[in-house]
Amino acid sequence: MAFPPLRFKDSILQLLDQRKLPQKEVWLSCSNSRQVYQAIRNMTVRGAPAIGLAGGYGLYLGIANFKGEREAFFRKLKEQAEYLKSARPTGVNLRNIIDRLIERMAESRLENIPQLKRRALEEAKRAHKEDDQICRKIGQAGSSLFQKGDRVLTHCNAGGLATSGYGTALGVIYAAQEKGRKLHVFADETRPLLQGARLTAWELNKSGIPCTVLCDNAAASLMKARKIDAIIVGADRIAANGDTANKIGTYNLAALAQWHGIPFYVAAPGTTFDFSIRSGDQIPIENRSRREVTENFKKRITPPEVNVLNPAFDVTPHSLITAFVTEAGILKPPYGKSLLKLKKKYAK
Ligand code: MRU
Repeated sequence: MAFPPLRFKDSILQLLDQRKLPQKEVWLSCSNSRQVYQAIRNMTVRGAPAIGLAGGYGLYLGIANFKGEREAFFRKLKEQAEYLKSARPTGVNLRNIIDRLIERMAESRLENIPQLKRRALEEAKRAHKEDDQICRKIGQAGSSLFQKGDRVLTHCNAGGLATSGYGTALGVIYAAQEKGRKLHVFADETRPLLQGARLTAWELNKSGIPCTVLCDNAAASLMKARKIDAIIVGADRIAANGDTANKIGTYNLAALAQWHGIPFYVAAPGTTFDFSIRSGDQIPIENRSRREVTENFKKRITPPEVNVLNPAFDVTPHSLITAFVTEAGILKPPYGKSLLKLKKKYAK
């Protein structure tokens, strides 16, 4: 099972245009950082890990044609990094991958500019390859959480399309399936851009995993009727105390899950943790265009002058999260302790 949303070949970043799925599978070519920035902003590529990987290649493309002195090169590198990081503010993978690229380049003080450019590309490719290994480890760790026949609810798309190809929350479901633990997935449609109805359902259909799409507001009554055994979602940024930003509506699910006594899991790679912030209050929440709410795929559905709020993410308090599934294994509360261990592991 793999649904890679990006590939890099002959100095071109190709992105599977996720705005067009599931109707059309169209690949968009980016040959410069401005095109990559636009593709991240307009959600041709989306999902925190995939955005991070695209940003890494975008940074390379932003300096690939640079001519000049070493100092000016590093100035350009920093300017391109800030530009790309500003494309979407909530997911921290973009910042983490770009900062890592720059760190690795700065370490190699002796290299000349062509070598530095090569180093940038190598690091972007390394992050891309690592993400696949990480997602598969997350899948292995998380698959043990489920029993054969479990009915699992997910929100948005934390699948292959949101990563290098295997997924985090859906990676866990794929790994369980590969082990013969057949699950039934309920996919929230995920208003307003319908990543669940369009993308999660598309991946699961292609994988032969039974999937039922739900209107977002149907979750509570299903939980009450004991038709959901567990919930698993991805994440865009996790603070040091475990507070987790993910697609708007995730917090609703977590609160409902606690009320109904249903486990609520977050699957995420190390690149999604932000140990520099203590709590979710410090996570910047992206507000997106009113048109995503007033229009449904280019057809207006509200009166023209209506007021609109469109926060793309919310923050689930750590106290509602049963466990995190990471490449380092399953982390349980108290998160102050378990996430500190994780932080030390990543610092090595
Ligand atoms: O706005 P999107 O589609 O980029 O939001 C995506 C999500 O919220 C995902 O759940 C998250 O990025 C994790 S993807 C592995």
